[in-house]
Amino acid sequence: MSKTGPNEPCWCGSGKKYKRCHQSLDLLKDLRGDAGKPSPDGLAPDGRPLVRAGTVSPRRTVPVHIPRPDYAVSGRPPGSRSRQVVKNADQIARMRTACAAARQVLEIAKQAVRPGITTDEIDAITHQAYIDLGGYPSTLNYHGYPKSLCTSVNEVICHGIPDSRALQDGDIVNLDVTIYLDGMHGDLSETVGVGTIDDHSRKLIAITHDCLMRGIGVVKPGGRVCDIGRAIEDHATAEGYGVVKAFVGHGIGEQFHMDPQVPHYFDPGQTAAFIPGMVFTIEPMINLGDWRHVMWDDRWTAVTIDRNRSAQFEHTILVTEKGVEVLTLPRGVEQPFAH
Ligand code: MF3
Ligand code: CO
Ligand code: CO
Repeated sequence: MSKTGPNEPCWCGSGKKYKRCHQSLDLLKDLRGDAGKPSPDGLAPDGRPLVRAGTVSPRRTVPVHIPRPDYAVSGRPPGSRSRQVVKNADQIARMRTACAAARQVLEIAKQAVRPGITTDEIDAITHQAYIDLGGYPSTLNYHGYPKSLCTSVNEVICHGIPDSRALQDGDIVNLDVTIYLDGMHGDLSETVGVGTIDDHSRKLIAITHDCLMRGIGVVKPGGRVCDIGRAIEDHATAEGYGVVKAFVGHGIGEQFHMDPQVPHYFDPGQTAAFIPGMVFTIEPMINLGDWRHVMWDDRWTAVTIDRNRSAQFEHTILVTEKGVEVLTLPRGVEQPFAH
């Protein structure tokens, strides 16, 4: 195996010079005697080609009659994060509307998934679905993000940008949909297989969904935010999986990302108590291998450091007097916990 020179592009595909990217980590690993980096021929540890960035199509427009969040033009949400965590009845009613619509959009996005479709084509279908419901795609121009949903394939952990890459038989893809409707954001995501997926991927997806549901299951008045991370981390690590730490669940409402922050690992510092009327997301990202990530040059796409696959599921939930209500369930599906 040839060694990468310090000024050559890093083996990871980030586009950065090796010395500015993985060189120091590799030196550490050499010292410790473990390899753990993808082969330099562009293959993931499972032997399949790494995901490569395709071409991003021009920005899609939203008709003028659709109400939009404050950052839609500037790309910058207001500097101060709202610290108001408990919502009143009117806000909760509007959260229900936004979350139900987000679910409808996700179902449309999922139906489009098949080998050969590009993630940009899924973006186009999804973009139209938000508009048909009278909503704005919350991700569009959020801190400058260029598209109407996130499509995170295989080793991409989150925030993958839809582009000209066609989904391949055997891929897994997370579709993360957020709508702004009735003055509120509703946010959810699921990971699905493309065509036929291998058993490792199937199990990763199943356990990641279990992690989300276990996290939701501990939410009730009397508990604390750190209970969520403990439940998720216990389950994931029992399977030998890595729990991503850099991206967390979040309060949501009039703003896309609000207090509280909801880590998916156990952080004893997260002592905030659950109070009826709190609305936030839980969205664990679980890796087949190492929990750490690296960023592509686009500054959005986060991939696993070892290029093993990663899965994610997300719901927006409401703390109730008795427990928890999941706001982003499909219509007709029963609430999984006391509410
Ligand atoms: N929907 C993602 C979340 O769950 C956020 C995407 S923000 C973007 O929090 F800018 F990357 F689109
Ligand atoms: Co999301
Ligand atoms: Co979210």
